[in-house]
Amino acid sequence: MEPVTILAIESSCDETAAAVVRNGREVLSNVIYSQIDLHTVYGGVVPEIASRKHIEKINQVVKKALDDAGMTLDDVDGVAVTYGPGLVGALLVGVSFAKAVAFAKNKPLIGVHHIKGHVCANFIAYPELEPPFLCLVASGGHTHLVMVRGYLDYEIIGRTRDDAAGEAYDKIARAIGLGYPGGPKVEKAAHSGNPDAFDFPRAKIDDNKYDFSFSGLKSAVLNTINGAKMKNEEVNPADIAASFQAAVIDSMKERVLMAAEEFGAKSFAMAGGVASNQTIRKALEAACTEAGISFHCPPPILCTDNAAMIGAAGYYEYINGRFDGLDLNAVPGLKLE
Ligand code: KG4
Ligand code: ZN
Repeated sequence: MEPVTILAIESSCDETAAAVVRNGREVLSNVIYSQIDLHTVYGGVVPEIASRKHIEKINQVVKKALDDAGMTLDDVDGVAVTYGPGLVGALLVGVSFAKAVAFAKNKPLIGVHHIKGHVCANFIAYPELEPPFLCLVASGGHTHLVMVRGYLDYEIIGRTRDDAAGEAYDKIARAIGLGYPGGPKVEKAAHSGNPDAFDFPRAKIDDNKYDFSFSGLKSAVLNTINGAKMKNEEVNPADIAASFQAAVIDSMKERVLMAAEEFGAKSFAMAGGVASNQTIRKALEAACTEAGISFHCPPPILCTDNAAMIGAAGYYEYINGRFDGLDLNAVPGLKLE
C-alpha cells in the first residue's frame, strides 16, 4: 500500500500545533507553539487571548511543520484537524485553516476528536500497539476510561462526574500558591512531601464504579488549608501536594485494575496531559505489571496537546474513508461516542 501522509493541526486550547505524520505512526515533524507564558499571569487560559494568538501563529507553525518534514502542501494526502472538544474560538482557527488548505489544494479533510487524538499518541510511541486495549485519558478538560476495541471503535466505561484530573491539579496548585499550569508544579512539590500526611478522600460512585469524581478531593484539600489558616497553623504545601496526588493515583489504579479484569484487557495505555506525570505513570506501571497487564504511556511531549497525535488519529479515519465536507464546524462540546 502507498504510504499515507497527513498534515495535522491542533488548536483546541492554548497550543498552536502542526505535524506531518506518515501511516499514523511515523512523525516526520511535530511543531508546538505553547502560549502558556501568555496565560500564566491570568492564572489560567483566557479564551480570547488563545484565539488571537492561534490566528497570529498558525501560518508560521504549519509552514515549519512542512519545512521540517521536507514537504509542501502538494505532498500531503490529507489534512486532519481537531474540531472538538475545546474552546470554540480556538478550535475555529484550526478548522478554518484546515478547510482553506483542503479547498485550495483539493485534499481530503478529516475532522478529529481531540480525545481520540490523545489515545492515538500511543500508536506513535508504541508502533506495535494495536487494539483492543484499555485507555485512561486524563487531561485538563477530560477524564475518561475507555475500552479501545478497534481503531475507530471506542467504548467509554467511565468518566469524571465533575472536575477533570488535570483541572483538579490546576485548582490545588492555585490553592497552595504554585500558580498555572498546576500539574507539573504539584508533581514537583509532591516529591518532597509525605503522601500519608493527610488522608484525603478517594471518591466512589455508586451507580458506575468506573466513574471518577475529583471535586470532593479538591474540597477536602481546600478545607484542610483553610482550617489550618483559621487556627494559625502551618501546613506544608509539599505534604498537601503529595497526599492529594496519592489520592488521585489510588482512584486511577483501582478503576484501571477493576476494568482490566472485567473487560479482559491485557493491555493498558495512558493518555492526556496528566499522563506526563512521572509519579502517576510509575505507580500505574507497577500496578499493571503486577497484574500481568502490558503498560503503555507516551513520552510527555506526546501526552500534552500536540498535532502528531491528531495525525495518528486522522490516519485511521483516512484509511477507512471517513472524510468531512467543507461544512465541518468546530464543536466545543463534542462527545466521544
Ligand atoms: O492534554 P492537555 O495538554 O490539554 C487538555 O486537553 O486539557 O492537558 C493539560 C492538563 C492541565 O490541567 C495540566 O495541569 C495537566 O494536564 N498536567 C499535569 C502534568 N502536566 C500537565 N497534571 C499532573 N501532572 C503533570 N506533570
Ligand atoms: Zn488535550
